[in-house]
Amino acid sequence: MATLHYHGHSTVSITTQDGTRIVVDPFFNGNPAADMKLEAVEADWVFCTHGHGDHFADAIPLVKRTGATLVSTFEIVQFAMSKGVETAHPMHIGGGFDFPFGRVQMTPALHGGQVEGDDGRWTTVPGGFVIHVDGHRVYHAGDTALIMDMQLLKGRVDVALLPIGDNFTMGPDEAVRAVEMIEPKVVIPIHFNTWPLIEQDGAAFARKVGARAHVQVMSSGDDYAL
Ligand code: NI
Ligand code: MN
Repeated sequence: MATLHYHGHSTVSITTQDGTRIVVDPFFNGNPAADMKLEAVEADWVFCTHGHGDHFADAIPLVKRTGATLVSTFEIVQFAMSKGVETAHPMHIGGGFDFPFGRVQMTPALHGGQVEGDDGRWTTVPGGFVIHVDGHRVYHAGDTALIMDMQLLKGRVDVALLPIGDNFTMGPDEAVRAVEMIEPKVVIPIHFNTWPLIEQDGAAFARKVGARAHVQVMSSGDDYAL
């Protein structure tokens, strides 16, 4: 079976039945919640929802060391290639692609998306991903406000990873409304408790969701069998 591993903040890795390793939003060495150091992470595919450091900071070194393929928006891929990344797959909001492990579609997100290099800063468009692995449909929302576009995912997601931290993204109340729109079977809250500005109570969020979905509150280092 496929396994989802929570590294803290918005960083997760999914290992498919055949052992393919997919890392989403790699943020290890600067992440106070991370369960491991970047140097110990292995990956075949690295997905980035947007350019902010708490989602993208470790993407370039991870891809360079492991030879994994970076998948993100065209602009972020272009940025990474300008920094020496050679294995990358550009896509964009609304588009899907059949990767060897399954189909992935990029979804809209309402947020910022600056990428920063030693030679300047660029604004990029943020997104999320619906990743199909071994018959499971996993939605990683990235950083986003509650948006009406989430209605388009209704009935098309099994496991939804939703930010609940508030301040920079949806808070718990908006995440409950997102659950009402999407109707996933399982919800995993992300992007909370990493710093004081996004402190939230995962158990209280689970109570708010109630019978709408199963809420799997994960601690950094936890595994969840998909
Ligand atoms: Ni962000
Ligand atoms: Mn973030």
